[in-house]
Amino acid sequence: MTNKIEFKTTVKVYESLNQLSKADQILLKKAEEASALSYSPYSKFPVGTAFQLDDGTYILGSNQEDAAFPAGICAERVGLSNLAMQKPGTPIYTIAIVVPSDAPAAPCGICRQSLFQQEFRQNQNIRLLLKGKSEEIYLLPSVKSLLPLPFTF
Ligand code: THU
Repeated sequence: MTNKIEFKTTVKVYESLNQLSKADQILLKKAEEASALSYSPYSKFPVGTAFQLDDGTYILGSNQEDAAFPAGICAERVGLSNLAMQKPGTPIYTIAIVVPSDAPAAPCGICRQSLFQQEFRQNQNIRLLLKGKSEEIYLLPSVKSLLPLPFTF
């Protein structure tokens, strides 16, 4: 007999902003503000993120590109670095990520790992709110739901 490990991810899809709590609406607005600080002349794809921390404060991030492309860094990892320096040890309750494509976009693989590391460290799930230019918003219950069988040692 062989055993199986199965993974299941549920994404809640909201049709418009007014279906969200006020707190989540504010967080998405902050992520929009953060995307204005993106440096993305190469991709022309500004990404903004805002973290709502358990203490009610916010941490922002945006993608910062480089002429040497691999030296660029995603919005999410800029946010995590800001968190490490400005609010070390403060858990994240929700992360909002906004992109300029029509549909919401999920974090890239490297960012999933980095966000998972944060979720693991804080021992508390992080809600993820994703939004593009369309009205639709995705809500995921945790980073782990986006990264089954994550790397840890
Ligand atoms: N990017 C992010 O900021 N976050 C992601 O999760 C995926 C991609 C950035 C990297 C690059 O500056 C631009 O989006 C296009 O890939």
